[in-house]
Amino acid sequence: MSKITAAITGIHGWVPEYKLTNEELSTMVDTNDEWITSRTGIKERRILKGEGLGSSDLGAKAVEGLLKKKNIKAEEIDLIICATATPDMIFPSTACIIADKVGAKNAFAYDLMAACSGFLFSLSTASKYIESGTYKKIIVVGADKMSSIIDYEERTTCVIFGDGAGAVLLEPNEEGLGIQDAILKSDGSGRDYLHMKAGGSLKPSSHETVDAKEHYIYQDGKTVFKFAVTNMADVSAEIMERNQLTGDDIAWLVPHQANKRIIDATANRMGVGTEKVMLNIQKFGNTTNGTIPLCLWEWEDKLKKGDNLVLAAFGGGFTWGSIYLKWAY
Ligand code: UT7
Repeated sequence: MSKITAAITGIHGWVPEYKLTNEELSTMVDTNDEWITSRTGIKERRILKGEGLGSSDLGAKAVEGLLKKKNIKAEEIDLIICATATPDMIFPSTACIIADKVGAKNAFAYDLMAACSGFLFSLSTASKYIESGTYKKIIVVGADKMSSIIDYEERTTCVIFGDGAGAVLLEPNEEGLGIQDAILKSDGSGRDYLHMKAGGSLKPSSHETVDAKEHYIYQDGKTVFKFAVTNMADVSAEIMERNQLTGDDIAWLVPHQANKRIIDATANRMGVGTEKVMLNIQKFGNTTNGTIPLCLWEWEDKLKKGDNLVLAAFGGGFTWGSIYLKWAY
């Protein structure tokens, strides 16, 4: 019997309608389109408006669209892993809520938290269940309502993030397609530079933490940039070397969309031309766990069976990694 690999066999994305443009942000904080565009590459981001809506609503939309597109019943799904840094609640998991919302009654479900690298960590985890033959249909959904943890009076972070979700279906493949290799890394000493100060067990919520604005993202942008630009490029080069790939062998680089300058540096290090880099940061900003599946969703029509893709991410933790896969359809 041939070896079973885990292949993405379907993809769908969902972003809210509301577009928060650089122009509108300029009326909220001391910033301007020129600064945001030249430093980040972002022009607008989507925001989930309305009461009582969380990351699970973004994720459920992406999963529902995926099931419909694949003509699969929700009951057929074995497992749902949700990568999110903005869960609906600390517990239960957002994956459980998504499973309930889409009617995936036979799936077990859990969240995986690795900040902006969560989608890659989840994809790698899910692939092991498939490769071992344990499960046949797994959905990995990256969903983040980043606007729920952004201080819209803080110009260094509010210009970067947006809301969105993307979901992939993972199934067994016997043609050698799908996920070929993964390199995942973390370094918790980076936690000081990108985190949320309060609301966890270390510093539970209180009037003081709210007054001190400690329930928003804190980022030391310059330091994170330095680590991101080096590590995302290094890990992408490492996975290429390990698999004897050159820039010419890569059909697409699918990078986490945190900053266009980080993406350019990664592509440059890999020897991959800009025409082979998926880039939608200008439209959606940094949707954290949504960035990579949203790229795949938008580029789905251009992908060909057998294409070599390198997925790469860097995020809070620090966490980072790359996945090499062969597109399966
Ligand atoms: O996805 C998770 C991982 N996160 C990342 O990968 C993000 C990594 N970091 C970055 O992308 C960049 O560091 C930022 C986009 C966050 C910031 O860009 P930067 O080029 O590193 O700017 P900076 O923080 O060094 O700030 C330069 C100047 C400062 O003014 P002074 O001190 O030079 O007078 C800031 O106060 O730009 C100022 N500034 C702004 N000006 C206009 C900071 N934010 C803004 C703004 N509009 N929104």
